[in-house]
Amino acid sequence: MINTTKTTLPMLAEMRHQGRKIAMVTAYDAPSGRLADAAGVDVVLVGDSAGTTVLAGTSTVPVTMEEMVVYTRGVSRGVPRALVVADMPFGSYQVSEAAAVENAVRLVKEGGADAVKLEGAGRTLTRISGIIESGIPVMGHIGLTPQSATMLGGLKAQGRTAPAARRLVEDAVALERAGCFAIVLEAMPAVVGERVTAAVKVPTIGIGAGPACSGQVLVWHDLLGLIAGPTPRFVKQYASLASVITHALEAYVEDVRSGVFPAAAHEYGMPDAERARFESQPATRK
Ligand code: KIV
Repeated sequence: MINTTKTTLPMLAEMRHQGRKIAMVTAYDAPSGRLADAAGVDVVLVGDSAGTTVLAGTSTVPVTMEEMVVYTRGVSRGVPRALVVADMPFGSYQVSEAAAVENAVRLVKEGGADAVKLEGAGRTLTRISGIIESGIPVMGHIGLTPQSATMLGGLKAQGRTAPAARRLVEDAVALERAGCFAIVLEAMPAVVGERVTAAVKVPTIGIGAGPACSGQVLVWHDLLGLIAGPTPRFVKQYASLASVITHALEAYVEDVRSGVFPAAAHEYGMPDAERARFESQPATRK
């Protein structure tokens, strides 16, 4: 039976409580969002990973609010049931609390998001509290936080020493205290993902953080095999759509060049009398 009940924050909390795993995936437009929703995904994340997956950039840092609003609007129009969470891009919450609240409001009001996601703890905590006080739910994100990859020494797993792992546990507890309804744990040893999950009551959503997390998230293009080349260790590819699409496009090019497409079935007709009248008209000279 198709589940048509809108995912709510209490439902996610209950899923964690009951040990039912939460499935989250990224999407950047309405058709993808619609497919994810129909497949039963609980949370659709409009990730700023769009900067690399859709815009072919080398990092998520240049992604703008304008871009995130457009992607979020598309996804939320395609998603009737799953919770839509929009990433706040780099620069949209660092400058001031007022700017953070204003930009979160845009993602909800103009983009149609149900909630927003911010990377980091520490200095981000006051921004998170401010956004929650304005009435917008916030998802946290710790571990590998790509917006601050330079500070982290690159796109690499975090929490691989005992003190660093301890800090991740403390950050998660601080995010829960600040009011986050869920926390993404990216790229950390499974044992750390497990300890973080045990330390908080809110759901944890892992991406390279092991099986003990309350749920998992993957990036659309990684999951579906839409980009050729190596993927991070944590990716499981469920399809190879890049080759399916390439074959379809090659067949189209071949049909156009050989004249097989368009066929009669793709043509518009004309009433016989009109056609006869049209064809009897003298040809227009160039
Ligand atoms: O932007 C994104 O896609 C993300 C996920 C990797 C969690 O933040």
